[in-house]
Amino acid sequence: MRIVRTTDYKDMSRKAANIISAQVILKPDSVLGLATGSTPIGTYRQLAEWCAKGDCDFSHVSTYNLDEYRGLSHDHVQSYHYFMRKNFFDHINIDLANTHVPDGANPDYDAACAEYDRIVADAGYPDLQLLGIGRNGHIGFNEPDSVFSKGTHMVNLTQSTIDANSRLFDSPDEVPRQAYTMGVQTIMYAHSILVVANGEDKADAVRAMCFGPVDPQCPASILQLHTNCTVIADEAALSKCP
Ligand code: F6R
Repeated sequence: MRIVRTTDYKDMSRKAANIISAQVILKPDSVLGLATGSTPIGTYRQLAEWCAKGDCDFSHVSTYNLDEYRGLSHDHVQSYHYFMRKNFFDHINIDLANTHVPDGANPDYDAACAEYDRIVADAGYPDLQLLGIGRNGHIGFNEPDSVFSKGTHMVNLTQSTIDANSRLFDSPDEVPRQAYTMGVQTIMYAHSILVVANGEDKADAVRAMCFGPVDPQCPASILQLHTNCTVIADEAALSKCP
């Protein structure tokens, strides 16, 4: 695991965008695994800026997002389908047909998850998987557990995740209680992984991810076993690391 220390959020975002841009320049038909949440928004903005200047071309790229709330339509403003269009896809030259997000609108979770596993496997798994990290060490919606999860599956969200995400909804009651997420094993199949983290509220999780025991109580800790994982974090997020 490589750790890249940045001064602040802007620096983190630019460095993460540089790595994604290099990936796409070196392999124009890259398969990218993408995340939602606040952390990658600056990275997406930077990439969109470079795309507008003609410095980064997404026309042959395909993307696979980590997760989606169960029960929200694709155009619901809090769905991750909507988030990705608003924050990234609408601002780059990607073919929307090449973008994929688990189908939270399909109530049949077995079918929705099996189909997603199939298409991610058919794509050969991401060349680069971008991840954020939750305050409890979750990746995707893989919450602390007694075992590491495998393929795409339905999860019941923990209270801490519901609380953290409620800032984006009109009221905490509106936050969906379930989601579909790629499993930890699927995430580990990515050929390279890039984790972005900023802010003091991530400091415990970043320490556990990078220096704690590999333990499903901190799902991100398994990334220590990945052979090509880079963590880009600001001073505040790294403040509890040795
Ligand atoms: C979202 C996702 C989540 C977030 C995590 C951090 O697709 O996979 O694991 O990365 O909850 O969220 P932020 O960046 O909002 O702190």
